[in-house]
Amino acid sequence: MNIVLGVTGGIAAYKAVALARLLVEAGHEVHVVPTEDALRFVGKPTWEAISRRSVTTSVHEDVPEVRHVALGQRADLVVVAPATANALARMTAGIADDLLGTTLLATRAPVLVAPAMHTEMWEHPATQDNVAILRSRGVEFVGPESGRLTGDDSGPGRMSEPEAIAVRVEQLLSGSERGDEAEPADLRAPEDVPASEEAASEGFRGLDEAPSAETPADLEGVRILVSAGGTREPIDPVRYLGNRSSGRQGVAVAAAAADRGAKIVLLAANIDDAVLADVVSNPAVRVVPVGSAAELEAAARAASAGADAVIMAAAVADYRVADVAGQKIRKEDSGGRAPTLALVENPDILAGLVRERRPGQVLVGFAAETVESEGELLERGRRKLARKGVDLLAVNAVGWDEGFESSENTLHLIGADGSLVDTVGGTKREAAEGLVDAVADLIRDR
Ligand code: CTP
Repeated sequence: MNIVLGVTGGIAAYKAVALARLLVEAGHEVHVVPTEDALRFVGKPTWEAISRRSVTTSVHEDVPEVRHVALGQRADLVVVAPATANALARMTAGIADDLLGTTLLATRAPVLVAPAMHTEMWEHPATQDNVAILRSRGVEFVGPESGRLTGDDSGPGRMSEPEAIAVRVEQLLSGSERGDEAEPADLRAPEDVPASEEAASEGFRGLDEAPSAETPADLEGVRILVSAGGTREPIDPVRYLGNRSSGRQGVAVAAAAADRGAKIVLLAANIDDAVLADVVSNPAVRVVPVGSAAELEAAARAASAGADAVIMAAAVADYRVADVAGQKIRKEDSGGRAPTLALVENPDILAGLVRERRPGQVLVGFAAETVESEGELLERGRRKLARKGVDLLAVNAVGWDEGFESSENTLHLIGADGSLVDTVGGTKREAAEGLVDAVADLIRDR
């Protein structure tokens, strides 16, 4: 396999020499990409001898080969070991002023990071926020371990041993680290994010079309990714930040489209079994349970590549907890003070899918708004549609006693040009059918 080993400037760079050797001995092609700083710790000749390849740090060498893009594109895996606090910050910001930065941006391969730094730097909120953001983008971490650091101090921050990193490399390359089956949507630790990504990446394979006898099969074979329900952002292993979305409207959309012959991948964020009962045994529907926004994002990205249309009906948390506690937060540990939760913004999944849309793909968003009037509802909807860049936005009014537990709904469908395409409603199933009509029109016009 083709592995890029990024080495950044920390004393643990010397341990990356042993890692490079292990990977080469395991039969991989290893392309070492040190930063300029890393070369102060271990020089180029060492990397070239160990990897048996020439080593560059700059985007300006080997220009005809477009090395800064090619390395990332060809990689099966990118490992950054050691990753300093500075390297994590640069990765988070997407800084690309050296060969490692451009390689990390150009790659679609899994990225494994082995941090190494002093405990204070590791525990600093800036670093922890960066780690959380990188994790939410699907970056894998190994370590850091607790132990003796450079100098006299010890604590978390020590880079994992080369052997441990090599084991993670093999796991990631073989995909064995990711479960084959989706787990039930329970509260999961943030590092378990990719668990349902694998199930979602099965995509539309193996689904049968199952049009119902009563409806026209005008969507036969069309592949539609639907998200439904509401995400839960863990605070600690027993608590979460959530919202009131039941998933009824999104599940009704999935069922209505399947009845017209479409194949559906349904990303179900924390939906009751009773609500899912309408679709679980439908051979045209693959239900993939997801928990948090990060998990929904990973699953949506995995399944969207094969989709003709994406309908994001899920209520996605805009923020998640910056520092998820590994143990239950206890009153007796907080010295009588109410804890403060620091939040970080989640990525906008739908806007990301719009940016990466494949030609002809139809993208549909939902917006549930608390408003004073229908005029305000449409106005907010139009602004949101423009912000997201979707082809259609379904807006509905919600409130303390409106929208959520009810079996009825009214959806105002706003088109890409801001015009009101239709207002559909009645039961949530009837509203879903109206929405699927509009989506079918868009698909037909592509
Ligand atoms: N959405 C998403 N990712 C997010 C937030 C929202 O994909 N992080 C999607 C939802 O699934 C929905 C649409 O974007 O299809 C609109 O969601 P909404 O929460 O209304 O939009 P926000 O951009 O979060 O705007 P607001 O400030 O009103 O919360």
